[in-house]
Amino acid sequence: MTLALGNKEIKIIPGLDLNRLPKHLGIIMDGNGRWATAKGLPRSAGHKAGIENLRKMSVFASELGLSYMTIFTLSTENLKRPKDEVDNLFNLIRTYMNEDTKQLVERDIRLNVIGAYKDLPGDVASAIDRAMADTRHCGGLTLTLAVNYGGRADIIRAVNTAVKSGTEVTEESFKDLLYTKGMPDLDLVIRTSGEQRISNFLIYQLAYAEFYFIKKHWPSFNKKDFQEALLAFQQRNRRFGGVKS
Ligand code: IPE
Ligand code: MG
Repeated sequence: MTLALGNKEIKIIPGLDLNRLPKHLGIIMDGNGRWATAKGLPRSAGHKAGIENLRKMSVFASELGLSYMTIFTLSTENLKRPKDEVDNLFNLIRTYMNEDTKQLVERDIRLNVIGAYKDLPGDVASAIDRAMADTRHCGGLTLTLAVNYGGRADIIRAVNTAVKSGTEVTEESFKDLLYTKGMPDLDLVIRTSGEQRISNFLIYQLAYAEFYFIKKHWPSFNKKDFQEALLAFQQRNRRFGGVKS
Protein backbone atom coordinates (compact mmCIF):
# COMPACT_ATOMS: atom_id res chain seq x y z
CA MET A 1 0.00 0.00 0.00
CA THR A 2 1.18 3.53 -0.60
CA LEU A 3 0.11 6.69 1.13
CA ALA A 4 -0.13 9.76 -1.08
CA LEU A 5 1.36 12.86 0.50
CA GLY A 6 1.21 15.84 -1.81
CA ASN A 7 3.33 14.80 -4.76
CA LYS A 8 5.13 12.16 -2.73
CA GLU A 9 4.11 8.63 -1.93
CA ILE A 10 5.27 6.57 1.00
CA LYS A 11 5.27 2.80 1.05
CA ILE A 12 3.27 1.32 3.89
CA ILE A 13 3.99 -2.29 4.88
CA PRO A 14 1.10 -4.76 4.56
CA GLY A 15 -1.13 -4.91 7.62
CA LEU A 16 -0.13 -1.62 9.20
CA ASP A 17 -3.22 0.39 10.14
CA LEU A 18 -2.49 4.11 10.22
CA ASN A 19 -5.68 4.67 12.19
CA ARG A 20 -4.37 2.64 15.11
CA LEU A 21 -0.99 4.18 15.75
CA PRO A 22 0.31 4.55 19.30
CA LYS A 23 -0.83 7.85 20.77
CA HIS A 24 2.60 8.37 22.21
CA LEU A 25 5.71 6.62 20.97
CA GLY A 26 8.99 6.66 22.87
CA ILE A 27 12.34 5.86 21.30
CA ILE A 28 15.57 5.07 23.11
CA MET A 29 18.03 5.67 20.30
CA ASP A 30 21.01 3.56 21.21
CA GLY A 31 24.08 2.17 19.50
CA ASN A 32 25.52 5.25 17.79
CA GLY A 33 28.98 4.56 19.22
CA ARG A 34 28.98 0.87 18.30
CA TRP A 35 27.70 1.64 14.81
CA ALA A 36 30.69 3.92 14.26
CA THR A 37 33.21 1.57 15.87
CA ALA A 38 32.05 -1.29 13.67
CA LYS A 39 32.80 0.85 10.64
CA GLY A 40 36.21 1.91 11.96
CA LEU A 41 34.94 5.46 12.54
CA PRO A 42 35.21 7.67 15.64
CA ARG A 43 32.22 7.68 18.01
CA SER A 44 31.51 11.27 16.96
CA ALA A 45 30.65 9.98 13.47
CA GLY A 46 28.07 7.73 15.10
CA HIS A 47 26.45 10.64 16.90
CA LYS A 48 26.36 12.67 13.71
CA ALA A 49 24.70 9.78 11.88
CA GLY A 50 22.36 9.39 14.85
CA ILE A 51 21.13 12.97 14.61
CA GLU A 52 20.76 12.56 10.86
CA ASN A 53 18.50 9.58 11.47
CA LEU A 54 16.58 11.44 14.13
CA ARG A 55 15.78 14.04 11.44
CA LYS A 56 14.66 11.36 9.00
CA MET A 57 12.55 9.45 11.49
CA SER A 58 10.86 12.61 12.79
CA VAL A 59 9.77 13.56 9.30
CA PHE A 60 8.57 10.01 8.72
CA ALA A 61 6.64 9.98 12.00
CA SER A 62 4.88 13.18 11.01
CA GLU A 63 4.09 11.76 7.55
CA LEU A 64 2.57 8.67 9.15
CA GLY A 65 0.41 10.92 11.29
CA LEU A 66 1.82 10.22 14.75
CA SER A 67 0.79 12.78 17.36
CA TYR A 68 3.48 12.41 20.04
CA MET A 69 6.97 11.02 19.72
CA THR A 70 9.52 11.35 22.50
CA ILE A 71 13.17 10.55 21.92
CA PHE A 72 15.79 9.88 24.58
CA THR A 73 18.44 12.17 23.17
CA LEU A 74 20.78 12.69 26.13
CA SER A 75 20.40 11.16 29.56
CA THR A 76 21.76 12.81 32.67
CA GLU A 77 24.03 9.76 33.01
CA ASN A 78 25.47 10.36 29.50
CA LEU A 79 27.14 13.49 30.90
CA LYS A 80 29.60 11.21 32.72
CA ARG A 81 31.21 10.32 29.38
CA PRO A 82 34.63 11.76 28.44
CA LYS A 83 34.58 15.54 28.00
CA ASP A 84 35.31 15.33 24.26
CA GLU A 85 32.29 13.19 23.63
CA VAL A 86 30.01 15.31 25.82
CA ASP A 87 31.17 18.51 24.10
CA ASN A 88 30.53 16.90 20.74
CA LEU A 89 27.00 15.96 21.81
CA PHE A 90 26.34 19.51 23.01
CA ASN A 91 27.54 20.85 19.65
CA LEU A 92 25.28 18.51 17.76
CA ILE A 93 22.27 19.44 19.87
CA ARG A 94 22.94 23.16 19.53
CA THR A 95 23.39 22.86 15.76
CA TYR A 96 20.20 20.85 15.47
CA MET A 97 18.28 23.52 17.39
CA ASN A 98 19.73 26.30 15.27
CA GLU A 99 19.39 24.64 11.89
CA ASP A 100 16.29 22.51 12.01
CA THR A 101 13.62 24.88 13.20
CA LYS A 102 12.73 25.97 9.68
CA GLN A 103 12.20 22.44 8.45
CA LEU A 104 10.20 21.58 11.58
CA VAL A 105 7.89 24.55 11.01
CA GLU A 106 7.45 23.58 7.35
CA ARG A 107 6.28 20.17 8.50
CA ASP A 108 4.13 21.61 11.29
CA ILE A 109 6.21 19.73 13.90
CA ARG A 110 6.24 21.24 17.35
CA LEU A 111 9.54 20.77 19.11
CA ASN A 112 9.48 20.23 22.83
CA VAL A 113 12.47 19.57 25.08
CA ILE A 114 12.17 17.96 28.50
CA GLY A 115 14.77 17.41 31.19
CA ALA A 116 17.18 19.63 33.10
CA TYR A 117 18.44 21.21 29.88
CA LYS A 118 18.76 24.58 31.62
CA ASP A 119 21.74 23.09 33.50
CA LEU A 120 23.63 22.64 30.23
CA PRO A 121 25.98 25.32 28.83
CA GLY A 122 24.11 28.59 28.23
CA ASP A 123 24.40 28.54 24.43
CA VAL A 124 22.86 25.05 24.28
CA ALA A 125 20.02 25.98 26.64
CA SER A 126 19.23 29.21 24.80
CA ALA A 127 19.24 27.46 21.41
CA ILE A 128 16.73 24.96 22.84
CA ASP A 129 14.49 27.73 24.22
CA ARG A 130 14.50 29.53 20.91
CA ALA A 131 13.73 26.39 18.87
CA MET A 132 10.80 25.61 21.18
CA ALA A 133 9.47 29.17 20.91
CA ASP A 134 9.79 29.13 17.11
CA THR A 135 7.74 25.94 16.73
CA ARG A 136 5.21 26.61 19.50
CA HIS A 137 2.42 27.35 17.02
CA CYS A 138 2.82 24.04 15.14
CA GLY A 139 -0.07 21.62 15.46
CA GLY A 140 1.13 18.38 13.84
CA LEU A 141 3.52 15.95 15.49
CA THR A 142 4.79 16.97 18.93
CA LEU A 143 8.43 15.89 18.85
CA THR A 144 9.83 15.81 22.35
CA LEU A 145 13.56 15.42 22.90
CA ALA A 146 14.62 14.33 26.36
CA VAL A 147 17.87 16.19 27.02
CA ASN A 148 19.72 15.87 30.33
CA TYR A 149 16.68 13.87 31.33
CA GLY A 150 16.32 11.23 34.04
CA GLY A 151 13.05 9.54 34.97
CA ARG A 152 13.71 9.47 38.70
CA ALA A 153 14.69 13.14 38.70
CA ASP A 154 11.44 13.88 36.83
CA ILE A 155 9.46 12.13 39.60
CA ILE A 156 11.40 13.75 42.44
CA ARG A 157 10.91 17.18 40.93
CA ALA A 158 7.16 16.50 40.69
CA VAL A 159 7.02 15.25 44.28
CA ASN A 160 8.75 18.40 45.51
CA THR A 161 6.28 20.57 43.61
CA ALA A 162 3.42 18.65 45.24
CA VAL A 163 4.98 18.95 48.70
CA LYS A 164 5.41 22.71 48.27
CA SER A 165 1.81 23.11 47.17
CA GLY A 166 0.68 21.16 50.24
CA THR A 167 -1.93 19.29 48.19
CA GLU A 168 -2.21 15.51 48.02
CA VAL A 169 -1.82 14.14 44.52
CA THR A 170 -3.72 11.49 42.59
CA GLU A 171 -2.31 9.36 39.78
CA GLU A 172 -3.91 11.73 37.29
CA SER A 173 -2.99 15.03 38.95
CA PHE A 174 0.58 13.82 39.45
CA LYS A 175 0.98 13.48 35.67
CA ASP A 176 0.58 17.22 35.32
CA LEU A 177 3.57 17.81 37.57
CA LEU A 178 5.86 15.79 35.33
CA TYR A 179 7.80 17.20 32.39
CA THR A 180 5.34 15.43 30.08
CA LYS A 181 2.36 17.47 31.33
CA GLY A 182 -0.51 17.35 28.86
CA MET A 183 0.81 14.35 26.92
CA PRO A 184 -0.78 10.91 26.84
CA ASP A 185 1.04 8.00 28.51
CA LEU A 186 3.49 6.10 26.33
CA ASP A 187 1.92 3.22 24.39
CA LEU A 188 5.07 1.90 22.80
CA VAL A 189 8.78 2.23 23.47
CA ILE A 190 11.34 1.18 20.87
CA ARG A 191 14.98 0.61 21.82
CA THR A 192 17.66 -0.05 19.25
CA SER A 193 21.06 -1.77 19.52
CA GLY A 194 19.93 -4.96 21.25
CA GLU A 195 19.92 -3.57 24.80
CA GLN A 196 16.79 -4.53 26.71
CA ARG A 197 16.44 -2.05 29.52
CA ILE A 198 14.77 1.27 30.29
CA SER A 199 17.78 3.25 31.53
CA ASN A 200 15.71 5.75 33.52
CA PHE A 201 13.63 6.88 30.51
CA LEU A 202 10.06 8.09 31.24
CA ILE A 203 9.58 5.56 34.05
CA TYR A 204 6.27 6.88 35.40
CA GLN A 205 4.79 7.50 31.96
CA LEU A 206 5.57 4.07 30.52
CA ALA A 207 3.87 1.99 33.21
CA TYR A 208 1.65 0.29 30.60
CA ALA A 209 3.79 0.69 27.50
CA GLU A 210 4.60 -2.13 25.13
CA PHE A 211 8.29 -2.63 24.39
CA TYR A 212 9.97 -3.34 21.11
CA PHE A 213 13.66 -4.16 21.00
CA ILE A 214 15.63 -4.35 17.79
CA LYS A 215 19.27 -5.38 17.34
CA LYS A 216 20.07 -2.73 14.74
CA HIS A 217 21.96 0.33 15.92
CA TRP A 218 20.10 3.62 15.76
CA PRO A 219 21.86 5.05 12.69
CA SER A 220 20.73 2.01 10.64
CA PHE A 221 17.15 1.98 11.93
CA ASN A 222 15.04 2.78 8.86
CA LYS A 223 11.45 3.46 7.81
CA LYS A 224 10.72 -0.22 7.33
CA ASP A 225 12.02 -1.05 10.83
CA PHE A 226 9.91 1.79 12.17
CA GLN A 227 6.77 0.41 10.53
CA GLU A 228 7.53 -3.12 11.67
CA ALA A 229 7.70 -1.87 15.25
CA LEU A 230 4.33 -0.15 14.82
CA LEU A 231 2.84 -3.30 13.30
CA ALA A 232 4.16 -5.44 16.17
CA PHE A 233 2.50 -3.00 18.56
CA GLN A 234 -0.80 -3.36 16.73
CA GLN A 235 -0.58 -7.12 17.00
CA ARG A 236 -0.16 -7.11 20.76
CA ASN A 237 -3.07 -7.70 23.05
CA ARG A 238 -3.09 -4.92 25.62
CA ARG A 239 -5.23 -5.64 28.63
CA PHE A 240 -4.05 -3.04 31.15
CA GLY A 241 -4.36 -5.66 33.88
CA GLY A 242 -7.87 -6.64 32.82
CA VAL A 243 -8.99 -9.63 30.79
CA LYS A 244 -9.05 -10.04 27.01
CA SER A 245 -11.85 -7.99 25.44
C1 IPE B 1 23.13 6.60 21.74
O1 IPE B 1 24.29 5.96 21.32
C2 IPE B 1 23.26 8.11 21.78
C3 IPE B 1 23.51 8.67 23.12
C4 IPE B 1 23.38 8.02 24.23
C5 IPE B 1 23.93 10.06 23.21
P1 IPE B 1 25.46 5.56 22.32
O2 IPE B 1 26.44 6.67 22.37
O3 IPE B 1 24.91 5.12 23.62
O4 IPE B 1 26.12 4.34 21.55
P2 IPE B 1 26.72 3.02 22.21
O5 IPE B 1 25.69 2.43 23.10
O6 IPE B 1 27.96 3.42 22.94
O7 IPE B 1 27.02 2.14 21.02
MG1 MG C 1 24.44 3.33 24.51
